Amino acid sequence: MTDDRILYQSYKDKIISAQQAASFFEDKMVVGSSGFTKAGDSKAVLPAFAKRAEKESIGITLITGASLGLTTDTDLAQNNALYKRMPFQADAGLRNKINEGDIYFIDQHLSETAELLENKHLPQLDFAVIEATYIDENGNIIPTTSVGNSATFAKLANKIIIEINTSIPLKFKGIHDIFIQENYPNRKPINITASDTRIGENFIIIDPEKVVGIVFTELSDSFAQLSQPDAKTTAIAQHLVDFFENEIKEKRLTTSLMPLQVGIGKVANAVMSGLAKGNFKNLTMYSEVLQDSTFELIDSGKMDFASASSITVSEGCYKHLLDHFDDYKDKIILRPQNISNSAEVIRRLGIIAINTAIEFDIYGNVNSTHISGTKMMNGIGGSGDFARNAYLSIFVSQSASKEFNAISHVLPMVSHVDHSEHDVDILVTEQGLADLRGLAPRERAKLIIEKCAHPDYKEELTDYFNRASLHGGHTPHLLEEAFSFHTRFKNTSSMKQNALVKSVY
Ligand code: COA
Repeated sequence: MTDDRILYQSYKDKIISAQQAASFFEDKMVVGSSGFTKAGDSKAVLPAFAKRAEKESIGITLITGASLGLTTDTDLAQNNALYKRMPFQADAGLRNKINEGDIYFIDQHLSETAELLENKHLPQLDFAVIEATYIDENGNIIPTTSVGNSATFAKLANKIIIEINTSIPLKFKGIHDIFIQENYPNRKPINITASDTRIGENFIIIDPEKVVGIVFTELSDSFAQLSQPDAKTTAIAQHLVDFFENEIKEKRLTTSLMPLQVGIGKVANAVMSGLAKGNFKNLTMYSEVLQDSTFELIDSGKMDFASASSITVSEGCYKHLLDHFDDYKDKIILRPQNISNSAEVIRRLGIIAINTAIEFDIYGNVNSTHISGTKMMNGIGGSGDFARNAYLSIFVSQSASKEFNAISHVLPMVSHVDHSEHDVDILVTEQGLADLRGLAPRERAKLIIEKCAHPDYKEELTDYFNRASLHGGHTPHLLEEAFSFHTRFKNTSSMKQNALVKSVY
């Protein structure tokens, strides 16, 4: 098995167990690990380290591409093996520890981590742990289902542990495009002019001197849990399809639209499936994650090419992809996340960015990360990278949730701002779509309430806006009441009021 997975002869005596590799870490070390939305993560060394921490008092700062699979983040968190975690997570166990204040979490734009490391704004990496399909004859590695920050980790870390995953076919070589930018002040343009532009190598450069261990694993990635489209997600998708069709009619878009970035989750997947039903063709993606819907669109002949930093799909799609890899190989590219999410490239290509909001306010500010302004959900991920620089920045959300629609997702003021009104063009809920382009705050408020708010909350939101407007201001607010929906939910478990509260103004 090692013969076709390790082509660099002098690495062959570096094969060790995951436990041995995990024993290299010392307390308070900084470890950079592959893994992006559960794809291409460390499935042997980090879990072995979590196990070690069960019996030992030891912790690390862990920097990844994005979220990890298996129960790795939960196990690390529960065994107090993490001092600090960045730049993204989507793990219930880790989330609880972060929100209890036991683990520091840095919620970072995914394009920025590599930049911050490269420019020494973050501590020196002691170790890099990187999953690989195989090691080539020069000692360099072919990544697996994600690239994430791995190339930067390999470049900057003092020592490297390679995790070879034998479940990934050798023919994965060729789908990656690894490009590392020049350091400041000699940086040059990233020469990507279309989703399928290649500018780098198909391997990650490794300094053989730094490699201290090679570990084998055969575990597959954790799979995406796909929920079936429901009435709400289908309605959101339909509003968006109608919007795109109108943009085509108005000649602002063609039937190929523009390269798409679509966030993860059931709404995003439903939107993409909706596109499969619309009158679109020759679609492309320039995104950060390739999901089931990407491959469905490729299969249906509607999508020509998709670029991202990882492949995160359901079990069925994963197996199909591995079995029919040749059908997709020349239609996909995986890039480092500071390239897939690069502001420069997103702006140049004119991306249509579709991301999900936890809540948004009547002026168009979006909260994607915090429940009631305090508790971390997952993190901003790449949504800010794309929203800020997109040709069209779209946010979707359900208008209300929980029993009796106890939570309104359209609010007087968001409890945390991830995407300010300046970065938001279109808001969509199952109720309708608000096109905010060219609208001032007061115009926005009326449209957002009319098109996006749940009927149970329209009257109160309108009343809030009308009373706030009596007192003037560019963005009218009643500060005493701006968070009244949130505080009412805290006190009564519902954002609804029985009688409208009259203000003291
Ligand atoms: N108080 C309590 N709960 C609240 C709340 C409030 N004020 N506001 C929202 N919630 C709850 C909702 O009720 C819902 O709970 P449920 O899952 O039990 O129904 C949950 O928060 C939000 O879930 P939902 O509306 O179904 O959204 P989602 O599952 O599609 O995820 C994000 C939305 C924003 C959490 C997710 O898209 C995300 O993490 N985004 C940031 C990263 C990103 O955008 N990356 C993009 C590039 S991949």
